[in-house]
Amino acid sequence: MIGPPLIAEEALRERVRQLGAAISRDYVGKQLLLVGLLRGSVIFLADLLRAVTIPVKVDFLAVSSYVGRDSSGVVRLLKDLDHPIAGMDVLLVEDIIDTGLTLSYVLRVLKTRDPASLEVCTLLNKPRSRLIDQPLKYIGFDVPDGFVVGYGLDHNQHHRNLPYIGTLKE
Ligand code: IMP
Ligand code: MG
Repeated sequence: MIGPPLIAEEALRERVRQLGAAISRDYVGKQLLLVGLLRGSVIFLADLLRAVTIPVKVDFLAVSSYVGRDSSGVVRLLKDLDHPIAGMDVLLVEDIIDTGLTLSYVLRVLKTRDPASLEVCTLLNKPRSRLIDQPLKYIGFDVPDGFVVGYGLDHNQHHRNLPYIGTLKE
């Protein structure tokens, strides 16, 4: 069961607009590449992309670490980027940072490929569950510890189509 909206559609829309404006200001004159982490970030990325007003490219990565609600801590690369990122200003777009294990793995992999810069934009951040600290350049919203779904985020592949963010209840 899903509780009442934790973050409503209108709040998502407004925050994504602000993030797009900030990114467009910060990356003027740069080789901006948004790297979406499949599949949770796709809805956020699609909206964020349209809020960016400077030239921008997009690529995707897929990793897997979750079965059900708990992080296994084991991260696997399921799909690599299609293009090299050397010299690009890479902004990794994530749905949510929880323990930080997935992010730490992905950043380690991407750093070896000589991007001009490598930063993170996450829609949601669960600061209290963090095991590995990572600098997050853009954060949409801090959320409490519960398991959230919607706007791309899933529980065993369900609820990604919910247009708002809600908390999963037992
Ligand atoms: P981390 O490695 O623990 O930081 O987990 C990051 C990944 O786990 C995210 O990219 C999500 O796909 C997934 N995840 C973590 N917390 C949640 C949640 O509350 N709802 C849905 N997915 C989550
Ligand atoms: Mg996920």
